[in-house]
Amino acid sequence: MVIQKKEPEPETRFYGFTRTTSALLTHIISLGFTLFIALLSRPGSSLFSWHPFLMTIAFSFLMTEAILLFSPYGSPIKKLSHKTKVQVHWTLQGVCVTCAMLGMTAIIYNKHLNDKPHFTSWHGLLGVLTVGAVSAQCVAAMPLHYTSLAKGWSLAKLKRYHAASGLVTYLLGSGSLLLGLCSVWFSSSVGGYAWYLSALCPALSALIIMNQVSSAYVAKKRLQS
Ligand code: HEM
Repeated sequence: MVIQKKEPEPETRFYGFTRTTSALLTHIISLGFTLFIALLSRPGSSLFSWHPFLMTIAFSFLMTEAILLFSPYGSPIKKLSHKTKVQVHWTLQGVCVTCAMLGMTAIIYNKHLNDKPHFTSWHGLLGVLTVGAVSAQCVAAMPLHYTSLAKGWSLAKLKRYHAASGLVTYLLGSGSLLLGLCSVWFSSSVGGYAWYLSALCPALSALIIMNQVSSAYVAKKRLQS
């Protein structure tokens, strides 16, 4: 007996196409925006240069890729097992926190050397909150890795909290990047359409990542009900 494979509905195909295209766009943005900031800041040229460079690597590249690898439409390691994806996610997030800490140390020390006051701008305030949130997120994720720490907590619930708080952290990171683009340092060298195009990068990535994480929830809820 020959079993005929059912053709996917046109809407399903269109949905898959838009999701794949937006995931691809996010990969391009995450790498392109990071390279652009690296070229502009010229890491190593001054102590300050490390700040935008490391922060963009952490929040535009590493954190975006660490979440995108779970996307059913745009993961570069789609074919690998879930266990491997989790391991890569952990590694990327570990490097992300390290870069964020180093990037923040660079700007704080640079301000200290120049006798400038700390956390006086919205960017600085949201930035310090973001680095605090990403560090707390890593500590709070420990019970998912070392399950003996989860004492009495349901792992499914912990995973849901982890995804929700991870999304909030990602949005804080995107907000900090966006406010960084409003700084005198950036806006004095990038203006007009190029500035708007740069601002579109973290904004668009945030929307696509938000959609990926919330769709995963909706799908799980549908399966449960
Ligand atoms: C998510 C990424 C980022 C975070 C978490 C972050 C965090 C911070 C923090 C906490 C400060 C204040 C340090 C202090 O007052 O002692 C700061 C300052 C600064 N950052 Fe960022 N930053 C990020 C990305 C960027 C980017 C991409 C740029 C440039 C395009 C940038 C440019 C600046 C500048 C010029 C200052 C000094 C002026 C100010 O305090 O506003 N930052 N950042």
